[in-house]
Amino acid sequence: MSNISVIILAAGKGTRMKSKKPKVLHKISGYEMLYYSISEAKKLSDDISVVLYHQASLVESEMKKHFDDIKFVIQDHQNYPGTGGAVMNIETSYDKVLVLNGDMPLIDANELEKFSQLDGDIVMSVIKMDDSSGYGRVVIKDNEIEKIIEEKDASLKEREIKSVNAGIYLFANGMLAEYLPKLSNDNAGEEYYITDVIELAKNDGFKIVPLYVKEENFKGVNSKYDLAMAEVIMQNRIKKRFMQEGVIMHLPDTIYIDADVKIEDESIIENGVRLLSGAKIINSHIKANSVIEDSTIENSSVGPLSRVRPKSVLRDTLIGNFVEVKKSILIGVKAGHLSYLGDSEIDEGTNIGAGTITCNYDGKNKHKTIIGKNVFIGSDTQIIAPVVIEDNVLVAAGTTVNKDVKKGSLAISRTSMKTVEGFYDKFFKD
Ligand code: UD1
Ligand code: MG
Repeated sequence: MSNISVIILAAGKGTRMKSKKPKVLHKISGYEMLYYSISEAKKLSDDISVVLYHQASLVESEMKKHFDDIKFVIQDHQNYPGTGGAVMNIETSYDKVLVLNGDMPLIDANELEKFSQLDGDIVMSVIKMDDSSGYGRVVIKDNEIEKIIEEKDASLKEREIKSVNAGIYLFANGMLAEYLPKLSNDNAGEEYYITDVIELAKNDGFKIVPLYVKEENFKGVNSKYDLAMAEVIMQNRIKKRFMQEGVIMHLPDTIYIDADVKIEDESIIENGVRLLSGAKIINSHIKANSVIEDSTIENSSVGPLSRVRPKSVLRDTLIGNFVEVKKSILIGVKAGHLSYLGDSEIDEGTNIGAGTITCNYDGKNKHKTIIGKNVFIGSDTQIIAPVVIEDNVLVAAGTTVNKDVKKGSLAISRTSMKTVEGFYDKFFKD
């Protein structure tokens, strides 16, 4: 860990996001944007300050769910709005300060390390872009930065500049302390711009060098469109890593995977699958259009069109189309079609017929269903929990199981069927 302090800017209102939620709390692949900036910063610094203002207590409490060693600072936004105002009066442990925007969820620590490797009083990230709209334009001469012009303040000619400010800066040699008091808000937004520190330092003869970076790591998210595009990049990274580790994916562009999901061994993930936070897939085949959330699937086959809801474990199990499993443990089970298995434990060798429903909810409370080994549940069975079906039981199709069934028994509940000969013609034709 280098001797470097990090300040993450997250106080802005995020007006362009058009949302009641603070911009940095919008999620990408299961985590808030700000979560990513903080976790990458933690890899290179033990002194991290996050600057907040709009809905500060909400942002702080959400981040405290992930981190307990981060400082939160409230910007004096009323008097000092803007990215320059945000870094004023922040105490840092080290002389070198890396400033990040909190709306850059795609950055990674390896890229951040590169700022310290360049020699300059200020090192600033620059992206070369065909379409530079939305960003501050950077004027560079002889590989040194002269100034940054915000889009709002730029002339038509300046808007054509293709080098843009990616929003990450390393300030060395006391540059922030020296120039922050000298900032003015004499610009189109009437804000204090951190980017003006650069022009002031340059005019005093300090060396400001660009670090050229790739858009796909430094993309700023300002709108819901940017959010979706950043997520595409993040998704591609997540899926590429799994495929490199040996996972097979059909039509990966149609698969969605949250950032904390684990997939092991030679698992197969078919098109349209969603693997949500907490899912762990081990040596399994997840067929088309299935959804799995916060559950472990091991040596099993799921789908097509199955849904596994939180806190479930499937081991050596097969579930087929339109089977929904919730908070259940299925070991060595087959449930091929059209079933709801909730709050249940089902053991080895058991077959669940089509249309089986565990009636786990009585309108007030949830109750458990326990089914033993080698049980055959006939189609269209309702199992009214709480109930225990012991090993080696046969439940006849259409049964309503409303009491425990002892080992080795048959359970059957049926009204006897009758037939009325000649009824059809009488009813329809007469
Ligand atoms: C900023 C840069 C721009 C750069 C772009 C890269 C300035 C003046 N402009 O513009 O040159 O191309 O980032 O993405 O810095 N924030 C605060 N307090 C404030 C205002 C903003 O903490 O008073 C935070 C925001 O929460 C956000 C970050 O600073 O995380 C950047 O603010 P934003 O409004 O997105 O700046 P841009 O217009 O994108
Ligand atoms: Mg921005």
